[in-house]
Amino acid sequence: MHVRRKLVAGNWKMNGSLDGLNEVIAIAEAAREASGVDVAICPPFTLIAPAGMRSAGGVRIGGQDVHHRASGAHTGCVSAAMLKEAGASLAIAGHSERRTDQHETDAEVRAKAEAGLAAGLDMIVCVGESDAQRRAGDHSAVVERQLAASLPDDIGGAELVVAYEPIWAIGTGNVATPADVAEMHAAIRAALVARYGDAGQHVRILYGGSVKADNAAELFAVADVDGALVGGASLTAAQFVPIIEAAARS
Ligand code: 13P
Repeated sequence: MHVRRKLVAGNWKMNGSLDGLNEVIAIAEAAREASGVDVAICPPFTLIAPAGMRSAGGVRIGGQDVHHRASGAHTGCVSAAMLKEAGASLAIAGHSERRTDQHETDAEVRAKAEAGLAAGLDMIVCVGESDAQRRAGDHSAVVERQLAASLPDDIGGAELVVAYEPIWAIGTGNVATPADVAEMHAAIRAALVARYGDAGQHVRILYGGSVKADNAAELFAVADVDGALVGGASLTAAQFVPIIEAAARS
């Protein structure tokens, strides 16, 4: 039996402000009480350093993206070393919004994950099918292809995190059923173990897509759900703290 610490990560997307960092302070206080749970907030780049200072180590701070190169002529981009210098200890790569809006490919996502890991960041790599792909019965094949092409080859284990985020569940209130989540997380675990051996047992698999206080406990009870990647409900302590508490009880 492999014991993985639950990870509850908030993805603030393009939301937040210096004024709103009071929420991070309240989240950090709750995170300190939640034994056995890692808590992270991924704010916009501009808020990484102040969020780290205000939360004083109570939560981990992460980037929502990272460039695959260390430096150079890449206007608008931020490297892994820059994230670390600002106080981040993890980053997200391959969120479906970036795969769509910035046309990021699996190969680019993999390069970002490799760069982040090489710099010492933990990396959350996102995968997930669209509504049309699920209705066509292609969801498992899509996610397996994304895993194969988006994940790096060399991993130790726990520094890699996979987030399963079905696109149709993001920001829609349509949370995947526990049965759907169980099927996909078991398939992801099998793929991880087939590729990485025992290290694949240490990779955490998060569910993301309309996670809220009222559905978190049910999701955390599903086998191979090692936490959540939370969008809208991570923006306020009032909504995020009950999700952290549900992870601590699970
Ligand atoms: P919501 O929790 O707002 O559905 O967003 C999920 C997500 O995209 C997290 O990365």
